[in-house]
Amino acid sequence: MLKKAILIGLLAAVVYFVGTKVKMLGFHLHYYKHHPGTCRVIETAGPGSEDFHVTSAGLAFITSGLAFSSAPPSFLEFHKKNNIKGRILIYNFKNPKKGLVELKIKPSETLDLAKFKPHGISVLEDKAKGEHLVYVVNHPIPEPDAVEKFRFNPKTNELVHLKSITSNVMTTTNDLAVGEEDKFYITNFNYFNNYFLTVVEGLFQLPLGGVLYYNGTGFTQVTRRLAKPNGVFLSKDLR
Ligand SMILES: *[C@@H]1O[C@H](CO)[C@@H](O)[C@H](O)[C@H]1NC(C)=O
Repeated sequence: MLKKAILIGLLAAVVYFVGTKVKMLGFHLHYYKHHPGTCRVIETAGPGSEDFHVTSAGLAFITSGLAFSSAPPSFLEFHKKNNIKGRILIYNFKNPKKGLVELKIKPSETLDLAKFKPHGISVLEDKAKGEHLVYVVNHPIPEPDAVEKFRFNPKTNELVHLKSITSNVMTTTNDLAVGEEDKFYITNFNYFNNYFLTVVEGLFQLPLGGVLYYNGTGFTQVTRRLAKPNGVFLSKDLR
């Protein structure tokens, strides 16, 4: 009798656990509406466009070729086999016929283009000359994460690498929001560096992530105990 009760209790717990995870993953959700218009696939974007930033003039800066060390092993294998390159693309909403344009990247000593794996992106606009500062989260496996700072040259469609910002407080970072030059918020979304452990982290919603702030010289932890925080955005007053 007791055995049976325990068994039923365990079974109920398992069903409850699986049910809540299925609900969390949103298998039951369907979205039919897209605003403001129809969606169009742009084939030349390649795989791994995780983020983009649209300037006030309608120019979208898009990352392509995302991979990070805790991604599924089969995904990393696919990346390697197909020799997928990390790229930054632009798309002008005011001139959609032009399609995607890949930016040339002029690296510096601290940026190895062969290891460039761009993730989140944030643009600090230069409204006068269009020479925006572009900040990109990079996962240069097996090196630790870094934020790459570039200056955009609108005449040559070139990104000139200015510097890399890194710290051991960055675990697996995801997105960043730049308010002023060299000052940004950035999310730490995976605590573990291993695919299996990050699945556990996600399934149990372990609050091991957080948000960091970089003030130009160092990082401070502004929020802790978040489960896989992903995107980050700034209010207009930058607070
Ligand atoms: C920036 O952050 C670092 C690390 O927390 C700190 O040591 C430094 O005093 C801060 N600088 C300013 C100008 O706030």
